[in-house]
Amino acid sequence: MPLKPGLSKFFAVAFVILTVSSIAGMISLIAVFKIQLAGWNATSPIPTTTTTLSPPPIMRLPRNLIPESYNIFIKVELYTRIVEVVNVTTPNQTLSFSGNSTVNFHCAEQTRHIYLHSRDLRIFNLSVTNKSMGNSISINSYTSYKDETDFLKIELINTLLAGKNYSLFLAFQGELSENLNTLYVSKYTETDRSSENETTVERFLAATNLEPTNARSLFPCFDEPDMKARFKLTVIHRRETTALSNGDGQGPFLIGGDDDEWQYTVFEESPKMSSYLFAFTVSEFTSLKTPVGDVLSIQVFARPEATAAGHTKYAFDVTKKILNFYEKHFDLKYTPKKLYQIALPDLEPLAMENWGLITYQEGALLYEEGVSSWLHKEDIVSIIAHELAHQWFGNMVTMKWWNDLWLNEGFSSYMSYFAVDSVEPTFQIKDTLIMGVLHAAFEEDALASSRPLSAPVEEIQTAFDIHGMFDAITYCKGAIVLRMLADIVGEEDFNNGIRAYLKAFNGRNAEQSDFWKFIEHAKHKKSFFNVESFMNEWTTQAGYPVVTINTTNGETYQKRFFYNSSAHSDSLWLIPIQYMTAIAPPDFHWLDRRGPVKIAKFISKKGEWILANINSTGYYRVNYNPENWHRLLTQLEADLDRIPLMNRGQLIDDAFNLARAKQVNVTLALNLTRFLRNETAYLPWESTVRNLEYFIHMFDRSEVYGPMQVYLREQVKGLYNFLKNHTDNSTVPQDHSLQHNQILAIEVACSNGLPECIAMVKEKFADWMTSNSTKTNNIHTNLRSVIYCQAVAAGGKEEWEFAWEKFLESSDTSEKDQLRKALSCTKKTWLLNRYLEYTLDPNKIRLMDVASTINYIAENAAGQALAWNFIRAHWKYVSQGDPYTLLEGVTSRFSTKFELSELMYFVTNSEPMPPGNGAIEQTQVNIKWVGENKDVILQWFKRETAEME
Ligand SMILES: *[C@@H]1O[C@H](CO)[C@@H](O)[C@H](O)[C@H]1NC(C)=O
Ligand SMILES: *[C@@H]1O[C@H](CO)[C@@H](O)[C@H](O)[C@H]1NC(C)=O
Ligand SMILES: *[C@@H]1O[C@H](CO)[C@@H](O)[C@H](O)[C@H]1NC(C)=O
Ligand SMILES: *[C@@H]1O[C@H](CO)[C@@H](O)[C@H](O)[C@H]1NC(C)=O
Ligand SMILES: *[C@@H]1O[C@H](CO)[C@@H](O)[C@H](O)[C@H]1NC(C)=O
Ligand SMILES: [Zn+2]
Repeated sequence: MPLKPGLSKFFAVAFVILTVSSIAGMISLIAVFKIQLAGWNATSPIPTTTTTLSPPPIMRLPRNLIPESYNIFIKVELYTRIVEVVNVTTPNQTLSFSGNSTVNFHCAEQTRHIYLHSRDLRIFNLSVTNKSMGNSISINSYTSYKDETDFLKIELINTLLAGKNYSLFLAFQGELSENLNTLYVSKYTETDRSSENETTVERFLAATNLEPTNARSLFPCFDEPDMKARFKLTVIHRRETTALSNGDGQGPFLIGGDDDEWQYTVFEESPKMSSYLFAFTVSEFTSLKTPVGDVLSIQVFARPEATAAGHTKYAFDVTKKILNFYEKHFDLKYTPKKLYQIALPDLEPLAMENWGLITYQEGALLYEEGVSSWLHKEDIVSIIAHELAHQWFGNMVTMKWWNDLWLNEGFSSYMSYFAVDSVEPTFQIKDTLIMGVLHAAFEEDALASSRPLSAPVEEIQTAFDIHGMFDAITYCKGAIVLRMLADIVGEEDFNNGIRAYLKAFNGRNAEQSDFWKFIEHAKHKKSFFNVESFMNEWTTQAGYPVVTINTTNGETYQKRFFYNSSAHSDSLWLIPIQYMTAIAPPDFHWLDRRGPVKIAKFISKKGEWILANINSTGYYRVNYNPENWHRLLTQLEADLDRIPLMNRGQLIDDAFNLARAKQVNVTLALNLTRFLRNETAYLPWESTVRNLEYFIHMFDRSEVYGPMQVYLREQVKGLYNFLKNHTDNSTVPQDHSLQHNQILAIEVACSNGLPECIAMVKEKFADWMTSNSTKTNNIHTNLRSVIYCQAVAAGGKEEWEFAWEKFLESSDTSEKDQLRKALSCTKKTWLLNRYLEYTLDPNKIRLMDVASTINYIAENAAGQALAWNFIRAHWKYVSQGDPYTLLEGVTSRFSTKFELSELMYFVTNSEPMPPGNGAIEQTQVNIKWVGENKDVILQWFKRETAEME
């Protein structure tokens, strides 16, 4: 299956933020997307003895048999270490597993067929027993469907009777995946101090990753989220390894007899849960844990070296606090007796909320004091808060089917903002998190191809359909529409509704209509509006509206917002409009028609401005008549504090996006950046830098760039100076949003040539070079990434070679990633060429880092053409990673007919064929955009900067 292009990009973005905490700092829970990059529909490793039949008309299991509990034995053959001992034959690594399971089920409707799921497994020794009589029921035949149903159909001689209980026993065999699916093998290295000279040795572990439909590849089961059951597991594993699972483990016990190779661990039965939440690991990991005897045992597992070095401490500390917060907030205890979290060297997604055993990528859980950026804590606390919210939303109360995945993901994302704010109040990142999520949703949902948040059940059938639900709509739009609902009914009523809903559905499955009922019941503003009919408009229609207000006559209308100005839709929403004016306190209005309708309250009095959608609590954009835009601009330049912070960021984002959709002039958007001269808050700056990125790509090789740099340099001076004392002394402000802004200020100031910024980065980097040891690197961990890059950009051969040396020396992942990025920042083409050549040598740049390294180089205007020539010359090698992202990155500046023809030639004449459709389409859009906008933008920057230099 090809990658889903847009999604792999999201993943890349999230990863960069995790490892580098880079400039844009769009810390967002996009990070938690369960995006699988490859291989989830891999073909069966073991041929089954049965044949392929045509699938039944529906892809869903019949509901005549209801599972109640499983008793599962799994033997994992994997060695965690392959010990080299002189003259002893080394065992070969074995990637197989085997086991057996008994599933007890209730018959609701008589049948002679048992349907359940099984994929890529060899199955044998089947038997069916009538539980009350104890007699066995003969099996006529069984069939594994080798199609998208993944059904295992068992045909019986006799009929199973309604109201009776039965059990099915079977044995199975399968293979560990090397692509992070189902039960997979993961590798890492460890320092071996046992010999005289320290060496690094390879270690292995096995872990599961079952969401959404991989449980069926581990053992045959009723693998649908509403087929909840209790799971009891026994793992048989090798000596000196530890097995963890959802329940509390007893053991390990020796098998007994002469067998000292194997031991087993018995886990207590899980609560009733969906199969995708089943999990276990076998590893040599160690943990940081609460004292024995605590009511709830909390442990954080990691590589023994990471645990010993204290890298799990931050995660451990916030986990307890977040759990307490949720227990109070939901008024419902976390049910299991233990909560284990484990940092895995390999995992896709970033984290998975398995009940009682949450798995994380290392970057999402491990924090290194003195090495990690302080901002990295934001990623960790946000991801933990999201996964812990799932212990309620997802684990206790689960969506009935994957079409309503947002009941898991949108809710967990939304709840996490409050948890983060409660346990790390000094971070002050709630607004930043929310804006990040809002903009991710806006971006995705403006495409004509977007889908409704709650998809029609019949459209979500195959594993492919289900995977498609893990996207920005589910995670981001889901969270944002909940925020809108909470705002209208009021936080308190909303939270009461949530509590009642959780209690009522604990252990069960829900649909969105169930949730609306509880909010309806909890809300005091009874006749105000109907929750269900209001929310259905936002969850069952794709897209979102733009509300256009003419403040001269009060005429207001709504229409769906599309980037493509020729797209059309008849969608209609009930839109809550909170608004304020320069002279009157905030007020409220429902827009329930398409319009235009005359709304007297929106008529400007005495030439004052009106601002709609206060704090962006509504999921829509706002456009105004030019006069009102002008008044808002004037207000922002005169006294920006009169406009709420979130709106200052949103006005900029709306204006740039309305310009993109051709609903306002691009000069209006640029005019809105004028007030930044006096702005020190992060959100408006973040919004501007993100939106200007496209302008920079289109123009940084043209005559527009000169005046544009002058303009940005002038705009950022105030912000740079505001933080200068901190920056010069290598300290950072208390407030995290200002910490983000400090990085942004250095980035914008230095890259646009502010002399004091360039002097500062050169000096700090030179200090490090003279001290010549990482131990005396005095650059604050927050600022390393940006200072390394800017110092290499401002420097020459010496700085570059020092960075290269440090890159080779460092064993710390985040330091290495920062340096790898910094090396791409030099302006010297001969160094960039040398760096490109290094990407062909896996001893210098690992294969998995090749695409991102080339993209870093292409991101540099001086490296763009070199990178384009380079990937064409070495396509076979460089396309091994993620060719889509690579091509998209390297061609992101393409905006001429000549570049388009080069690209088309390359795409049609290369082997393997480049996935170029996206890049071609984007180039065509760019050509058109530059043609339409270049002159007016050039004139605008020239006019703005006429008096500056
Ligand atoms: C390994 O085996 C070889 C040949 O069997 C023998 O000569 C040698 O002494 C052995 N080395 C050790 C360390 O036992
Ligand atoms: C390991 O595999 C190799 C090649 O497949 C085989 O020759 C060797 O005997 C195996 N070793 C063990 C201990 O099974
Ligand atoms: C299932 O597997 C376990 C572990 O290998 C074994 O002890 C048990 O006897 C098996 N159950 C049956 C019924 O074969
Ligand atoms: C350890 O390293 C030293 C110096 O490189 C070497 O002389 C010695 O043989 C090594 N010892 C082992 C056990 O490899
Ligand atoms: C707003 O309304 C006024 C008065 O009717 C009209 O003259 C003007 O053209 C309208 N502006 C826009 C942008 O529609
Ligand atoms: Zn999630």
